[in-house]
Amino acid sequence: MYTFGVIGPGAVGSVIGESLQNGGYQVTLIGREAGSVCVERAGTTEFAALSVEAISEVKTAFDYLFIAVKGTQLEGIMPYLDKLTHANTVCILCQNGYGQLEEFQIPGAFQAVVYISGQKKADVITHFRDRILILPENNVTKKLKEVITESNLDLQLRSNYRDEVWYKLIVNLAINSVTALSRNTALILQEEKVRKLCENLIQEGMTIAAAEGIHFQEKMVEEIMHIYAGYPLYMGTSMYYDMIEGKTMEIAYIQGYLYEKSKEHHLDTPCLDTVYSLLLASEMRA
Ligand SMILES: NC(=O)c1ccc[n+]([C@@H]2O[C@H](COP(=O)([O-])OP(=O)(O)OC[C@H]3O[C@@H](n4cnc5c(N)ncnc54)[C@H](OP(=O)(O)O)[C@@H]3O)[C@@H](O)[C@H]2O)c1
Repeated sequence: MYTFGVIGPGAVGSVIGESLQNGGYQVTLIGREAGSVCVERAGTTEFAALSVEAISEVKTAFDYLFIAVKGTQLEGIMPYLDKLTHANTVCILCQNGYGQLEEFQIPGAFQAVVYISGQKKADVITHFRDRILILPENNVTKKLKEVITESNLDLQLRSNYRDEVWYKLIVNLAINSVTALSRNTALILQEEKVRKLCENLIQEGMTIAAAEGIHFQEKMVEEIMHIYAGYPLYMGTSMYYDMIEGKTMEIAYIQGYLYEKSKEHHLDTPCLDTVYSLLLASEMRA
């Protein structure tokens, strides 16, 4: 039987761990310290308890290793990756943004586009919706999909994987930037000027995508604005929560990645350049 490890007992990692555990797989959820987490299904009384092992204590080299820490936390797990992997381990990086794999050189790794919506508060994870991981289609990911058929993790393999990456990047770009910088929730979309800024950011994201060979249709601006319009007024984004909790945001992998691509292609992206500068400035400390 294959062994599964999940590093990061947060919103995404715990839901992946729970899905594998419910499917009867041998899975180890790995955190900074030993303990437990509880995954609660939003709006129901359903919950599942999972034990967590300390990353420093785990001795297994896993066949499949899901990495679900934030992009900003990758450096902290690097010293442990050698002992948690063997020559044929497949790593699935479950994070928003892009460019992490180039920066961190994780062997045998694929980055998933993550559609799992949840929030961690202390040791309780509220799972709102979805269990979807989108991966490029190849022999390794096809085998993984076969291997985990008993779990309710929805692994979707796509030949147009890069389109999926860019779509999610652009969705994250606008809403994360405006909520983090205003330190306010989706409520701000009621202001027309904020909506216009979002549209401009989406448009600039599409221009960068096109320079990278990913061509979206013009109606995508409207589509994404429609998605935002469906957000409850009180809903925050991951960057908003990180900003108000004083945590480091995943700027480097969303706005930073897009900014670098924009410069590489000599594009004019004034809104992106502005929000990226202000986000960087917001993290500066004396
Ligand atoms: N939450 C969502 O709805 C959602 C949706 C789509 C994509 N994503 C993306 O998924 C990724 C994970 O996000 P998340 O929301 O699951 O974050 P999260 O709830 O903060 O979970 C990250 C977990 O990793 C743990 N961790 C950090 N450093 C570690 C280390 N060195 N060793 C072991 N564990 C460590 C954290 O522990 P501490 O709490 O002690 O730091 C935390 O439990 C991010 O890239 C995010 O943007 C999230």
